[in-house]
Amino acid sequence: MGKIVERPKEGCAGGAARGEDCRLLGAAGVLSGAEWQSRLRGRRIGWPVKCYGETDSTNLRAKALAEEGAPEGTLVIAESQTEGRGRRGRSWVSPPGEGLWFSFILRPAVVPAAAPAITLTAALAAASGIGDMTGLAPGIKWPNDIVLGGRKLVGILTELAAVDGRVRYVVVGIGINVNIAEFPAEISRTATSLYLETGRRWDRPDLLAAVMKRMEEYYAEYLKTGDMSGLMEEYGARLVSRGEEVMVLAPRNEHRGICEGIDGQGRMLVRLEDGSEERVMSGEVSVRGIYGYV
Ligand code: BTN
Repeated sequence: MGKIVERPKEGCAGGAARGEDCRLLGAAGVLSGAEWQSRLRGRRIGWPVKCYGETDSTNLRAKALAEEGAPEGTLVIAESQTEGRGRRGRSWVSPPGEGLWFSFILRPAVVPAAAPAITLTAALAAASGIGDMTGLAPGIKWPNDIVLGGRKLVGILTELAAVDGRVRYVVVGIGINVNIAEFPAEISRTATSLYLETGRRWDRPDLLAAVMKRMEEYYAEYLKTGDMSGLMEEYGARLVSRGEEVMVLAPRNEHRGICEGIDGQGRMLVRLEDGSEERVMSGEVSVRGIYGYV
């Protein structure tokens, strides 16, 4: 790949669909629409592609596209986000050229209660895709943060629209800190990047393709049952707190136990001191490792 020559300012879904002019800047240069096509075309997830040089939030763009009827698999990528959104109303630092900020639309025929497992599925895809590409072994901090060296490498924000008790669409937004060399002071002790962990820059299009390949594989597995039963072993193997003491932060009832993995619904299995097993649902309570960030 050659030198960076141009950054598209606005979206280019039509261009990408025709194999023209849709660019995502890699470590080494430009990924053309044709190259992109050859990597992801034919996949259920990751096509069609809409690229932005800068946008507010790829989740917001993906939701707008989903409302307009964009098909399952539609992928929105931005070089930078001005209003990158994190969970619990937080913002997500999304500088240009250094990360992968993207969202995709899914339209599974499931009830809303089956949707949280999609977030865990995406976490497994992100961790595995990064592992495939880099040879590293990123862990998952339940339910959906990807961590490396005890710091957060990837964040995932899933948003859902439902009608009449059925899911209309799910937007999965993933932020991967790829080549970021320095974080703002307020997150510098909890965030990391592939660059900081390995001392080298990584090709973002290759990385995105690796993650989407895994997403396609795991989403197909998820659709068989509408839950994590086909993925819980693989997910559990990446769980950083497996076998470790965790604190269950339930309202007015904080207590400790040992994490033993997840069940088919994606709930964390926690063995309590009295020997009983608790199943902790994401969203209802959070779980914190006793030592450090994870
Ligand atoms: C978290 O708080 O951990 C979730 C962060 C999710 C960030 C990604 S970046 C791409 C997509 N667009 C957004 O505005 N947020 C998600």
